[in-house]
Amino acid sequence: MTVQSYFQLRADSFHSLYEEDRPFRYLVNRVMRRAIFERVALTLKEFREWRDFTILDVGCGSGRNDVALVNSGAARVVGIDFSERMLEIARGFSRSHGTTTKCEFVRGDFVSHNFDQSFDAVIALGFFDYIGAAEDALRRMISLSRYKVIASFPKRSMIRAPLRKLRYALKGCPVYFYTRDRLTHICRRLGLKDFQVLPCTSAGFLLVVSLNRYPSSSDVSCRGARESAVTKPA
Ligand SMILES: C[S@@+](CC[C@H](N)C(=O)[O-])C[C@H]1O[C@@H](n2cnc3c(N)ncnc32)[C@H](O)[C@@H]1O
Repeated sequence: MTVQSYFQLRADSFHSLYEEDRPFRYLVNRVMRRAIFERVALTLKEFREWRDFTILDVGCGSGRNDVALVNSGAARVVGIDFSERMLEIARGFSRSHGTTTKCEFVRGDFVSHNFDQSFDAVIALGFFDYIGAAEDALRRMISLSRYKVIASFPKRSMIRAPLRKLRYALKGCPVYFYTRDRLTHICRRLGLKDFQVLPCTSAGFLLVVSLNRYPSSSDVSCRGARESAVTKPA
C-alpha cells in the first residue's frame, strides 16, 4: 500500500477525528491527538496579523484547516492532496461553511505537481510524517512562498515513534520522524536564516520559516506579511 492509497481508504475516518457533533468522541480526540489540534492553533496564530493573504496548503486532507484559514483572513487558499476522497470531503466541508469562492482544492502529488503561481505563505500540517525526502519537499515549499513557510514534523522518540512506525508498517504505510537537530540542519543546508523550531505538544515540532523577501510592486495583498517583510529585510 502507498501513502496515497492509505489516505484514500482512511479519508472519512481521518476527517471524523475533527468532528465536533459527537462531543464525547471529540473530547477523546482532543486529548489523545492533541498534536493535530495544537499544530493548527499554532499555525493560525502565525497569521493573526495578516489580512487578504494567499496560501498553499500542502497535503490539505479534508480541508478543515483551509476553512479555518479563510475564517482567519485568507483571501484565497489552495489545498493540494493526492487523495481524491480527501478532496471530495474538503470540497463538501468548504461548501457547507460558505468558503467555496476562496478555497480551491487540487488533486496532485506535491512532489511533482507543476504550480503556475506562488503564494504569500505555504503550509504543510501532518504531511512530513509521510515524506522520505523532507529536504527536497521543504525546498519546494520555500520556492513557492513569498513570506512564510510553516510545517509540522513528528518527533523521534523512544517508545511512541517506533510503535507508530510499526502500526503504520502493518498497514503498508511508511512514516518518518525528526529531531530538532535534524530540522535545524536541513534549514541551514537550505540557507534559511530566519526560522524557529517550536515544540508542538510532546509529540512533534512546528517549523516556522520567515523568508523576508522584499515585496515587488505588483504585490498588492497580504498586508501583515508585507509589513513584516519590509521591517526585517534579508
Ligand atoms: C495526516 S493528513 C493531514 C491533513 C491536513 N493537513 C490536516 O492537518 O488535517 C496527510 C495528508 O497528506 C496527503 N499527502 C501525503 N503525501 C502527499 C503528497 N506527496 N502529495 C499530496 N498529498 C499528500 C495525504 O493524502 C493526506 O490527506
